[in-house]
Amino acid sequence: MMENLIGSLNGKTATIGIVGLGYVGLPLAIRYAEENFKVVGFDIDQSKIDKLEAKKSYIEHIPSDAIEELVDKGFSATTDFTRITDVDAIILCVPTPLNKYREPDLGYVLTTVETITPYLKKGHVVSLESTTYPGTTEEELMPRLEKSGLTVGEDISLVFSPEREDPGRKSHSTRTIPKVVGGQTPKCLEVGMALYKGVIDEVVPVSSTKAAEMTKLLENIHRAVNIGLVNEIKIVCDKMGIDVFEVIDAAATKPFGFVPYYPGPGIGGHCIPIDPFYLTWKAREYGVHTRFIELAGEINGNMPAYVVKKIAKALNQDQKSINGSKILVLGISYKKNIDDMRESPSVFLMERLRDEGAEVSYSDPHVPVFPKMREHSFELSSVELTPDKLNSFDCIVLATDHEKFDYDLIQKNAKRLVDTRGKYRNHKDAPNLSRA
Ligand SMILES: NC(=O)c1ccc[n+]([C@@H]2O[C@H](COP(=O)([O-])OP(=O)(O)OC[C@H]3O[C@@H](n4cnc5c(N)ncnc54)[C@H](O)[C@@H]3O)[C@@H](O)[C@H]2O)c1
Repeated sequence: MMENLIGSLNGKTATIGIVGLGYVGLPLAIRYAEENFKVVGFDIDQSKIDKLEAKKSYIEHIPSDAIEELVDKGFSATTDFTRITDVDAIILCVPTPLNKYREPDLGYVLTTVETITPYLKKGHVVSLESTTYPGTTEEELMPRLEKSGLTVGEDISLVFSPEREDPGRKSHSTRTIPKVVGGQTPKCLEVGMALYKGVIDEVVPVSSTKAAEMTKLLENIHRAVNIGLVNEIKIVCDKMGIDVFEVIDAAATKPFGFVPYYPGPGIGGHCIPIDPFYLTWKAREYGVHTRFIELAGEINGNMPAYVVKKIAKALNQDQKSINGSKILVLGISYKKNIDDMRESPSVFLMERLRDEGAEVSYSDPHVPVFPKMREHSFELSSVELTPDKLNSFDCIVLATDHEKFDYDLIQKNAKRLVDTRGKYRNHKDAPNLSRA
């Protein structure tokens, strides 16, 4: 059965099922369709299915044209999981958040696995792409999938292949980002390699699903720790009157042994603030305390509070306080040029400013209306940046440095401008400028 699947994957005649059509699943579906695989998308969110059927995108950086092409190539999307029987490969791209105790919440993954298990058949390959702790595939997925009566490595294949999607990045695409794959058995790995090598330029095998799971966590922990480090260096530089951005750029001229990371108002997104704590939690089972991860989390988590202090200081220069000031936050998605607001430090910033009595507004060309979020609420829409409007605020805070902002217009018309991104590093003498 496995040989048949490898043959149909190599011949691109296999049908690919993608479960979870979000930031990860949708680009992957598009990639398979580009290579003429038949693709079926599964999601529990009917509104996404409706949009896809209407050939409309719901992710800003994926144009509706791409969805039209996808549908024209035979893609269908459904909430009907009995259709798992129609596909040969099942790729899981569902969320892996933290719960309120900041512990891994595998609820979405396990519900999905339980939903698909009754429809498993001999020859199926199941690939988990959601970021998770080492051992998830082996300890949580395998026993649940085997409740179908099918044996992993004999009847069905099970692999873990972490997603490295970086929304908004133009230098790489789903095809060109190398993909790591670990199999539950050597045969599973062989199937996993066949699953991805038809659509990804370079597929990198590792010896186990655990190694693949740990690879993804190392990548994201590496980022979290280095961003924490550079945020700490920023605070020291500020005290010493040194421009941290000048220092980073100078250090980056070293052709080896240094990787530049840039400070900011904190970290956001579905990955960097969350994934490291998957390892922290699992490491406890082995009696290991992951101090680097905790420390980076603490430093990065305190950055919005640091920025608020700098805003207070900046307003002081104008004999004003946060309480009663009109403050405009520029950029509320968690990073530049995208519309993703998950865990955005800008939102924490807005909340703290509001708590301290500021009248908070925002402007973000990628987020026209403040979305409904589980834990945050603002009845606001994006302010249009005209000279008069800019001048009407006591303070403007650059939180996320979108390319669409007119930086000269902003600087020329702001009464007070607090820059958390080093965008105005060459305007040192501008009297209205403060760094945070
Ligand atoms: N967003 C990124 O840039 C990124 C990058 C690398 C890895 N990841 C990882 O990929 C995984 C998915 O992240 P995402 O950003 O695509 O999330 P997302 O929230 O954008 O998409 C997840 C989708 O899964 C659907 N879903 C939830 N439960 C389901 C179920 N039981 N059955 C079917 N569909 C279900 C949701 O409706 C949603 O459409 C996470 O583990 C994340 O950590 C994300």
